[in-house]
Amino acid sequence: MISRRSAIKALLFGSTALATGATIGFLANSSKADTSFVNRLKIPPQLKGKMQNGVRVYDLRLQKGATEFLPGIKTATLGINGGFLGPTLRLRNGEKIRLNVTNTIGEPTTLHWHGLHLPARADGGPHQVIAEGATWSPEFEVKQMAATFWYHSHMFHKTGEQVWKGLAGFMLVEDETSDTLELPRQYGVDDIPLVLQDRSFNRDGSLQYISSMRDIMMGMKGDIAMVNGAVTPFFDAATQKLRLRILNGSNSRFFNLGFDDERAFHQIATDGSLLAKPFETTRVSLGPGERAEIVVDTSGARPLVLRSFPPEAPGGMMNMMRRGMGRGMMNMMGGGIEQIDFLQIRHAASLKPGPALPARLATLPRMEASSAVKTRRFVMEMRMGPAMMMGGASPLTINGKAMDMNRIDEVVKLGDTEIWQIENTSPLPHPFHIHDIQFLILDRNGQPPAPGEQGMKDTVTLQGGEVVRVIARFEDYADPERPYMYHCHILEHEDAGMMGQFIVKA
Ligand code: C2O
Ligand code: CU
Ligand code: CU
Repeated sequence: MISRRSAIKALLFGSTALATGATIGFLANSSKADTSFVNRLKIPPQLKGKMQNGVRVYDLRLQKGATEFLPGIKTATLGINGGFLGPTLRLRNGEKIRLNVTNTIGEPTTLHWHGLHLPARADGGPHQVIAEGATWSPEFEVKQMAATFWYHSHMFHKTGEQVWKGLAGFMLVEDETSDTLELPRQYGVDDIPLVLQDRSFNRDGSLQYISSMRDIMMGMKGDIAMVNGAVTPFFDAATQKLRLRILNGSNSRFFNLGFDDERAFHQIATDGSLLAKPFETTRVSLGPGERAEIVVDTSGARPLVLRSFPPEAPGGMMNMMRRGMGRGMMNMMGGGIEQIDFLQIRHAASLKPGPALPARLATLPRMEASSAVKTRRFVMEMRMGPAMMMGGASPLTINGKAMDMNRIDEVVKLGDTEIWQIENTSPLPHPFHIHDIQFLILDRNGQPPAPGEQGMKDTVTLQGGEVVRVIARFEDYADPERPYMYHCHILEHEDAGMMGQFIVKA
């Protein structure tokens, strides 16, 4: 039993260990495997909604909580229908849904359905503020391929802090295709949602958020890893095949995920769809906001550890070297080079075998570059050095502009297919996210996307200096006034203004 005092002490030592690039996790020694994974993984409860006159209705209450992340220490948090994070909403393609979102957190907030194609009024972005005590009830039809989505606060200037405190949860969509596929689908048994996050704590056990300009420029990073709100968790696998729906729900960290014994697994889905076919690999990289589904064979002599490895080519490293910045600078910038052990997967002596993975998964829409009527450019820029110290203009911009709620940056014509060319001129990686649509990646630095990026996406990570072209169709919903957002999904960057607005016009 770890005492309150020693747990806090351990946390402080954890921070020190992190600064030197050591493995992080609770007590900063989770690489010493078996004994250091002490908390059973929590599986978020499912919320299936209730049918009312042909509409499936979900009730969500945003509330304050007191959560015990560390033994004997209560931390003030925020949650949805609970103290930290929220339930997993089960959605079906083609169903009409209504989400009754009641805010009781004591300050204004919003709730955004990340990745969903929906009318702008239902998006839950910075324009759909829910006052304290109020209920917001967007209604729309689920028009989505089966995949793993999430919802989170999108309050302008407050998104980073409110998500850090816990305002986020999963949405799992099923469709006609996923119904027929033989994939692990027993929620909590062989179909497991995993939100990977990091947090840091103050001496009194409270969550620690932004304490310097650096936390804004580099993004807020914690020194304690957690999965579904559990620190150093383990999961008891009963089946040989385990489907993990992994969400990078961190504010600013980039993960390069695999298993400690380097075993191969299959990636089966990206942000917004299943892949055309399973892709065998040993790594999947996820920037903040991105998701992937994988299926791993859990059998073997030892328990498995789901680990984030230091990137093979650290974020923007080559580009930075060209700019004359060395490794020290890289460390200082906290580019997420640490090794993080997230979850231990233990297995029973005899595992229930599962069917072989289907050879084909989803049928993806075809979108040829030649069908695009327009190419728009989005340049993600960070002004570093002395300029960032000068007050006034934000050093974090897209196309030279910081977010202005009263300015529409782009107008897209309803029904058009467009190419968005995204450029990252900064040395740090940035995940670019677009609301309303799912896109396909046309190319990355002129090369076709890697197999693990060939499904539908709503967020794409750009390393320093990279150029990515994506293609999407803007259909179904037009609104002459209410905009959708596009932004960097490093939440501190988004809050600082690395965000723009587009409307879809009929
Ligand atoms: Cu996940 Cu605009 O957000
Ligand atoms: Cu979104
Ligand atoms: Cu960014």
